[in-house]
Amino acid sequence: MILIRRSEPRSGSMSGASASITDHVLNATSSGPQHLGAIYEFVLRFRPRTAKETVRARVYEAVEKGNLQRVAVGVYFAKSGPATLVLIEGDTREVLKSLEPSSIDAIVTDPPYDLGTRQHTATGTTRPHKGQGRTYQQWDLDRATLEAMFRVLRKDKLWNGLRGRTARGGGALLLFVPPLTRSSWKHIVRLITLAEDLGFTFYGSLVWDHEIMGMGYDCGRNRRNEILLFTAGRRNGLLWNLGMPNVLRHRRLSRRAGQHEAEKPVSLMMQLINSVTRPGDVVADFFVGRGRWIREAVSQGRHVIAVDVAPRWVKEIRGDFAMPRLDLAFSAGEA
Ligand SMILES: C[S@@+](CC[C@H](N)C(=O)[O-])C[C@H]1O[C@@H](n2cnc3c(N)ncnc32)[C@H](O)[C@@H]1O
Repeated sequence: MILIRRSEPRSGSMSGASASITDHVLNATSSGPQHLGAIYEFVLRFRPRTAKETVRARVYEAVEKGNLQRVAVGVYFAKSGPATLVLIEGDTREVLKSLEPSSIDAIVTDPPYDLGTRQHTATGTTRPHKGQGRTYQQWDLDRATLEAMFRVLRKDKLWNGLRGRTARGGGALLLFVPPLTRSSWKHIVRLITLAEDLGFTFYGSLVWDHEIMGMGYDCGRNRRNEILLFTAGRRNGLLWNLGMPNVLRHRRLSRRAGQHEAEKPVSLMMQLINSVTRPGDVVADFFVGRGRWIREAVSQGRHVIAVDVAPRWVKEIRGDFAMPRLDLAFSAGEA
């Protein structure tokens, strides 16, 4: 399980002969939440045929060199001051199973939608991309994935409540949904109903105003996306920052080479993240895409868990953090 630790490293635990690798790893990094012991567990889970001693040795060597960055195929780690990034190349539906329950303060994510291409294409509001619709896999959030998101969100998160008072409530889920059209409305209502069934509280919707018109023939050309706000658990007073309007204006990125086709502006992502987390909190994006905002979030003290199934985007994010390709190699014989 990936466990986000808030406690200080355990002093003195390395002195005994029985100190575990988790103790070594935790003591090797000095402050803030520690993912490393958890990463060891994660490596074992993803490489069940690798001898525990081998994993242990690799993690320990890398920590000694002070550059624990690639910890297994598809699992990367970066640290900047007290803040951390765990970057995972994999299927979110699998990764979610390995995350500790009630360990994440906020999920801010922009999932793929099957409806976002086929239905729109059918009603003539958008042209299909080359080949089969979008270049990434299209599917709608299902019950199991939403349920897993509910499980990993904190149930006792601290919020900056009304008049600066600290309030306790469930962790936040800010979920991008497709632009509103006559077909997507119905889908979005179904999604809200499903989430409520699973224990989420629905607070409402923010509008992202793109400032630039897109396509749309039914009811005006599209200039917006909805972002739904849920919390994990029952409604708990007013958690929201009253200084923030419900329309967020951030200019949509114009298409350029090397950009993710659904890439969101960093300023929008940071406004959302800042509205539901504070420094020291853990924020996850389970469909991170290009993830250009991660550097900013980490530099503002957020602990980030980022997942995408596409190697291309994980590689780009690694580049942002100057993560070398092979830090912790396992030879074929060890796998
Ligand atoms: C709408 S895009 C996110 C774009 C992102 N907000 C950005 O700014 O670049 C959805 C992403 O989900 C990823 N994805 C699709 N299915 C996935 C899965 N099962 N597990 C993890 N990621 C997945 C795609 O590769 C794609 O990058």
